Amino acid sequence: MTGPDAALRTLAGRAAIVTGAASGMGAATARLFAQDGARVALIDRDAAGAEAVAAAIVAQGGAARAWACDVADHAEVARTCAAAIADLGGLDVLVNNAGVNRFVSVDDDAFADEWDRSLAINLTAQQAMVRAALPALRRSSAARIVNIASTEALGATPRNAPYAAAKAGVIGLTRALAVELGPEGITANCVCPGPIDTAMTGFASAEDKATFARRRTALRRYGSAEEVAHVTWSLCLPGASYVTGAVIAVDGGLTARNA
Ligand code: NAI
Repeated sequence: MTGPDAALRTLAGRAAIVTGAASGMGAATARLFAQDGARVALIDRDAAGAEAVAAAIVAQGGAARAWACDVADHAEVARTCAAAIADLGGLDVLVNNAGVNRFVSVDDDAFADEWDRSLAINLTAQQAMVRAALPALRRSSAARIVNIASTEALGATPRNAPYAAAKAGVIGLTRALAVELGPEGITANCVCPGPIDTAMTGFASAEDKATFARRRTALRRYGSAEEVAHVTWSLCLPGASYVTGAVIAVDGGLTARNA
């Protein structure tokens, strides 16, 4: 018996950019793409971290290269994307994953600055990356954009308005891209991770995380970076050609659970 066309189920031979790839979900995504045979450009402002992840991928036989870039600096984004795409020899997949989160009350003096920083890194950078990548994506036979949002885009936590607003904007951006680029066959989808064990959630103790997960998620546990990476990977496969504009929670059932 033969299964579905194997070429539809792999990123082998494809070229991908992953932002925020020095840590957490971005690193897990870059690793998974490379394990599946993709050539991966790891973009991060943490140059040493991205180099370390890329070196580990290469040591395991994968194709990866690190690029130091602050995604909030649009000139740097344009320069880095052009260089990375030239190095990759094209581009099929863009994963906008870089993000930051700092809690701040709406009446705090630091609120305005945090609002600007969050919007710049979590939202505005994604459109800058898309605009820089678009000419190359247009030449791909299976162009895929995945933007990482958050369950904070679907509900909200106190003292997190700059992040919640930016991540809700990511959903709007993704849907608009899906509609605008759909006629060209380019898909754009949004992944909304729930509570995931990474550096970003390192402020919480293991005990606090376990308590939160027991109270709030259906699966009663935090997720791993790899569990999110697998969903991102599946959306980037050539076979995912009819999924676009989707907003997919990878949250252990957090948004499904009322009690
Ligand atoms: P992380 O902190 O482990 O990794 C984030 C990466 O983004 C870091 O390597 C960091 O250097 C990079 N980065 C931050 N600002 C940057 C900039 N201006 N330019 C270039 N790179 C930059 O965090 P994690 O958890 O892996 O986060 C990945 C994405 O998932 C983020 O967009 C985050 O908002 C989102 N997310 C995370 C959740 C969690 O529970 N960990 C939940 C929901 C969404």
